[in-house]
Amino acid sequence: MRRTYRGANVEVSFDLEQCIHVGECLRRLPETFALDRRPWISPDAVDADDVVAVVERCPSGALQYRRLDGGPDERAPNPAVVTPMRNGPLLVRGRVEVRREDGTVEVLPRAALCRCGSSANKPFCDNSHLRIAFRAPGELFRIELSPVRRAVDQPLDRARDPRGS
Ligand code: SF4
Ligand code: FES
Repeated sequence: MRRTYRGANVEVSFDLEQCIHVGECLRRLPETFALDRRPWISPDAVDADDVVAVVERCPSGALQYRRLDGGPDERAPNPAVVTPMRNGPLLVRGRVEVRREDGTVEVLPRAALCRCGSSANKPFCDNSHLRIAFRAPGELFRIELSPVRRAVDQPLDRARDPRGS
């Protein structure tokens, strides 16, 4: 379920089901994204340009934004670009229409799509590739460990993720 966090200049939304916990948000902008704060996203903590720059680095599309100050919205690459992540999902950058298993359709600027076949949230990756020790070539991504993800090779327990509450 996508939740919305509205600030004065920018609105940020987050869908925990889509997050693959690479941690770009927590590492790059702790003023805005903090696991120990409620709400965990604070859109007004820094300049809106800085917020959107980090949101656009979210590889899964879990984070999205809408400018409220007249600033430019996200310009997704056209055509979309697909990059395999080593031992993990296919990362899509560019507008993509995604049809969920329940029939819901959403157009996303970014997405992390399952390629191991084991996700319980297809077509999105849910980190099940870690559980089955999926191996396939691809780009290496730095993963930031946090209370949400304590080990690179361990799926997390979404039920215990503080961002879901
Ligand atoms: S996929 Fe990474 S950058 Fe995006 S919300 Fe999850 S932890 Fe943050
Ligand atoms: S690639 Fe991540 S769950 Fe399949």
